Amino acid sequence: MADMQHLPDSPIGPSGPIGIMAAMPQELQALLDLMPDESRVQRGGRDFWCGHLAGREVVAVLSGIGKVAAATTATLLADAFGVSQLWFTGVAGGLGADVRVGDVVVASALLQHDLDASPLFPRHEVPGLGVSRLHPPAALVTQVADAVTDALSPRALAPGGPLSHIHLDTLGLRAPRVHTGLIVSGDQFVNSAEDADTLRHHLPDVLAVEMEGAAVAQVCMAFGLPYAVVRTISDRADASAHVDFERFVRSVASPYSLAIAMALLKEVPRVVPDGPEGAPQAHS
Ligand code: ADE
Repeated sequence: MADMQHLPDSPIGPSGPIGIMAAMPQELQALLDLMPDESRVQRGGRDFWCGHLAGREVVAVLSGIGKVAAATTATLLADAFGVSQLWFTGVAGGLGADVRVGDVVVASALLQHDLDASPLFPRHEVPGLGVSRLHPPAALVTQVADAVTDALSPRALAPGGPLSHIHLDTLGLRAPRVHTGLIVSGDQFVNSAEDADTLRHHLPDVLAVEMEGAAVAQVCMAFGLPYAVVRTISDRADASAHVDFERFVRSVASPYSLAIAMALLKEVPRVVPDGPEGAPQAHS
């Protein structure tokens, strides 16, 4: 493990590293295992791992559980580390009718399901923003959905493919489907059919529930940062939600997250800091 480093004096700005927030230690470790040069920088009680992944400059960090922890981590990535975009990977409970365990949801909208300042503001509206749903850039959503579809393709999971070590049959899982749509976040692990039904009642188009994404979205919006939230479905947010969670994370969610991050890193345009006009340039 590398030595601790000091932060650069000023944030790197729009051409800065890609920030990767992992929800679970196993996911973070899988990323670190592939970073040849990571160095640890401590801020706000968190370990930020700065280095390279697939030739790209990245800062990888454990999100922390819940909206406040995630917002704090995202704020530090934006303000202290100057990331140019932020990706969040983790697991979620499936709420959409056809969103099953082992599927992946890419957020095209995020909302805090436990935010309710009524009657001052409509239910779910973020005070001061005038909206309840936050939207990552559409182009990035498409890029991420394509990268996920490619990374988790039948070919990738078949014998000889990079994910052939995941035995979906043994785990009782189907081949992953990729969904794009609404993910909701709140400071609650939803594990009752009644609570899941309530969420579906208020938000009929909801696909998945987790505890961080919408908070990260709000921070990214404040900093003008592009962001993506990708979640592997670990449970159906009902009474069986806690069953085999550890095993699922180890054998499915972490390898999926890693494959998705690596696929995305290859897709994202390479940004060269010193273009002719001093502006970042995009290279394919
Ligand atoms: N993350 C994974 N499953 C979840 C659930 N059921 N509720 C909230 N966050 C989750």
